[in-house]
Amino acid sequence: MQINFEPSKTLDKEKIKSFLDEKTAEKYSFLLFDSVDSTNTLAKEIAKDEAFGSVVIISDHQSAGRGRLGRSFYSPHTDGLYMSVLIDPSKEDMEISTLTHFVASATSKAIEKLCGKFVGVKWVNDLIVGKKKICGILCEAGRSDKNADFVVIGIGVNLYQKSFPLDIEDIAGSVYSTTGALVDRAQLAAEILKNISEYHKDFMDDYRKRSVVLGQRVRVINQERTYLATALEIDDGGALTVLDDAGEKVRLCFGEISLKLE
Ligand code: BTN
Repeated sequence: MQINFEPSKTLDKEKIKSFLDEKTAEKYSFLLFDSVDSTNTLAKEIAKDEAFGSVVIISDHQSAGRGRLGRSFYSPHTDGLYMSVLIDPSKEDMEISTLTHFVASATSKAIEKLCGKFVGVKWVNDLIVGKKKICGILCEAGRSDKNADFVVIGIGVNLYQKSFPLDIEDIAGSVYSTTGALVDRAQLAAEILKNISEYHKDFMDDYRKRSVVLGQRVRVINQERTYLATALEIDDGGALTVLDDAGEKVRLCFGEISLKLE
C-alpha cells in the first residue's frame, strides 16, 4: 500500500502505547502525521485496497477536516487531537447504527477523566462543556474494493485553543478554554482508545445522562423544514423524539438533521 504522507515524529506512538495495556497496544497500528487533509479520508483510502487491521491515524493538523452534513472541522496545528480509528466491523461485535452514540459516551468519559469536568452530549455527535462544543465525532462506514466492510471512527477534540475564528467563536470551545485543563494529547488518545476497545452494549444510559438537549427547547433543521420543538427522549436505537409546537411527536433519526439549542 502506498501512502503519500510522511509519518510525523511530533506525537510519539510509544508514548501513546505507554498509557495502554499490552493487548490494546498490540491491537492497533499507529500512523502519525504532521499534516493531512483529513484523517477520516486517509483511513478510507487505507481501507480501500488492503486487508487492513485496526489502524489509528492521528495528525497534528488537518487542511480539510470534515464534520457531519458536509461541514468542515477547524483543525489548527497541534491545538487538538485529530484521530481516526479504522476497524473491521466483522471482527468486532459492534452495533453500527448506534456507534456514534457509543463513541460519544466513550470519548466524553476519557475527556472527563483527564480534565475533571462534566462533559455533555448534544444529540447526536457534539461533546459540550458549559455551552461550547469541544469535540465532534464523525463515524463513516463503507465497503472496500475487496468487498470488505469497514468503519472509520473520526474524533476531533479542541484541546488548547484560546480563541476561535469569528464564524465559530460563539459555539466552539477547547478543553483548555472551558475547563482550564491542559490535557496531554497522547494520554487522551490512549484513554479514548481504551474506552473504544472496551465495547459494551449498555452505553445508551450514559449517553442519555450526558444529554444537554433532553427537556430543552430545540430548533430542528432538516431538508424539508425548520421548526421549534421540545426534546423528550432518546430511545435505545439512539433516535431523539421531540414534541413540535403543533403537539406532534416526531422521532428524529440521525440522517440529515441538525439541532440547535434555543
Ligand atoms: C462534527 O463536528 O460534525 C464531526 C467532526 C469530526 C472531526 C474529526 S477530526 C478527525 C477526523 N477527521 C476528519 O476529517 N473528521 C474527524
